[in-house]
Amino acid sequence: MVCLGNICRSPLAEGILKSKLNSSQYIIESCGTSSYHIGNKPDTRSIDIAKKYGIDISSQRATQFKLSDFKVYDYIYVMDDSNYQNIIKLTNNTDDKIKVNHILNELYPDKNLDVPDPYYGSEQGFEDVFQMLDRACKNIVLKLKKNN
Ligand code: 4NP
Repeated sequence: MVCLGNICRSPLAEGILKSKLNSSQYIIESCGTSSYHIGNKPDTRSIDIAKKYGIDISSQRATQFKLSDFKVYDYIYVMDDSNYQNIIKLTNNTDDKIKVNHILNELYPDKNLDVPDPYYGSEQGFEDVFQMLDRACKNIVLKLKKNN
């Protein structure tokens, strides 16, 4: 799960997907494309909205995407198109590129819609982001179970 800072959207996506899958079967992590917040906890507003729905993301710490992540993960979900461009330009390898997808394409195929960045907005923005990521993660789980 990838966003810009790894403190608002992708920590929620990581926590939500982990809450729906068996951790002994899947490696689920999140990171940012930027180095802005490396080592930081998720934004308090993300921690609070996750907690409201019974998910604890408070022990997560921000990291930055690295090239070796292409080797570790089968699916790389980005929150917005700017994240997509930043990740895609790191590789010329087609096998790497096809792993990268907008997470909202799991709800609205091929539309490449953005999960809006709630960082500069209100608490409601975090609720909206939680709900869209929860719906997208439900579809990811269905897809993974179908493929296995
Ligand atoms: P995120 O939100 O990419 O969802 O973690 C942001 C967090 C921090 C900044 C931008 C977006 N920032 O500019 O510091």
